[in-house]
Amino acid sequence: MKLRRWMAVGAVAVATVTALNTVQATASRPYDPTAQSLRTLGLRHGLQIGTAVDMAALNNANDPQYRQIAATEFSSVTAENVMKWESLEPTRGNYNWGPADQLVDFAKRNKQTVRGHVLVWQNQLPGWLTSGVADGSISTQELRELLRKHITTVVSRYKGKISQWDVVNEAVSDPWDNPPTLHYKGFWAQHLGPGYLADAFRWARAADPKVLLFYNDYNIEAFGSGNPANDKTQFVYDMVKGLLAERVPIDGVGSQGHLGTQYGNYDTLQVTDALKRFTALGLATAFTEVDVRSEMTEAVQAGDSAEINPRLQASAANFSVLMKACLAVRSCISFTVWGFTDKYSWVPNWFNNPPEGLATIYDENYQPKRAYQELKSDLIFAGPPYVLPRITPNPRR
Ligand code: XIL
Repeated sequence: MKLRRWMAVGAVAVATVTALNTVQATASRPYDPTAQSLRTLGLRHGLQIGTAVDMAALNNANDPQYRQIAATEFSSVTAENVMKWESLEPTRGNYNWGPADQLVDFAKRNKQTVRGHVLVWQNQLPGWLTSGVADGSISTQELRELLRKHITTVVSRYKGKISQWDVVNEAVSDPWDNPPTLHYKGFWAQHLGPGYLADAFRWARAADPKVLLFYNDYNIEAFGSGNPANDKTQFVYDMVKGLLAERVPIDGVGSQGHLGTQYGNYDTLQVTDALKRFTALGLATAFTEVDVRSEMTEAVQAGDSAEINPRLQASAANFSVLMKACLAVRSCISFTVWGFTDKYSWVPNWFNNPPEGLATIYDENYQPKRAYQELKSDLIFAGPPYVLPRITPNPRR
């Protein structure tokens, strides 16, 4: 029954590959998949391969390689920062669309889709909003109206230009938070209560009937204990199930995929299982911000290969786990990395005690790392019967 909502895009992908093979076979060199981009190889499966884009790097005339790789290796882009509320509306009532528009234009020129990130989140909110709430000059009622207006304004502006919106980001606490019992966390839940989630999806849907609407979070790659009191994935599962029961127009769950090699992490089958369970609710899935960081010990910083190699290998293995799980589940429609080069990764700025890094698929000199090669081989060596073309849902009304 659910199947009626789904639309096969696989046929297009298969046709593209057949055409590609024909073209390549008639050329002097035989078809060599290792010479293809991640983007082209993803297409074989109908899978979008995306990256977060740092607009300062994209506009750096002295660094053309950034722009070139962003344009050629990926079929989807996400604004790393410029679609966040603080960037879009730095002063109340004055929207600064420039950088976000620029990314949307870049994507159009390069025939890429855009993941919209992000409409509702407790971080990177404009100062006028948070201080207005703190000093009481913005009432709860006004805050709710401001959120409605923000969602409506942004979604309307990019109507038809965005494939997936992260409507709500990181609404759920972690087991290491205080109190440790999982709960709705942050600014929006505190001021509006958990009902803001349903409102946000409904407002977004009203502004664009065709875009896919996602809930996005980290630390939900696999189920743990199964207990919603301390298993974040279970909590999010129950949350989205509840939203669907209330007929909230949510189309997918985005798993960010920020991993670190110092942690236990998961195997491919555990991650596959989580994607399948979200799929069984009638939802699309996606990896939305994948990177796999490592601790930068003194030996790593000094260039000691005995400490660097295991990190690069573990990072590659974790990228590969997420990619294989995504390929195995037909609802997994995009795989996005959170920046593609260590040159501009957010990790060293964000995780500095102890220092962490080495999180992306290209090094600081744009040399593809083992992680890049493993993603590529996962895409090359996957196919029927276990890996079938993607199935994209029709937006839920
Ligand atoms: C990060 C950016 O990469 C940084 O440049 C910025 O300073 C902070 O935010 N989860 C998310 C992303 O949903 O928006 C965050 O991006 C990384 C964690």
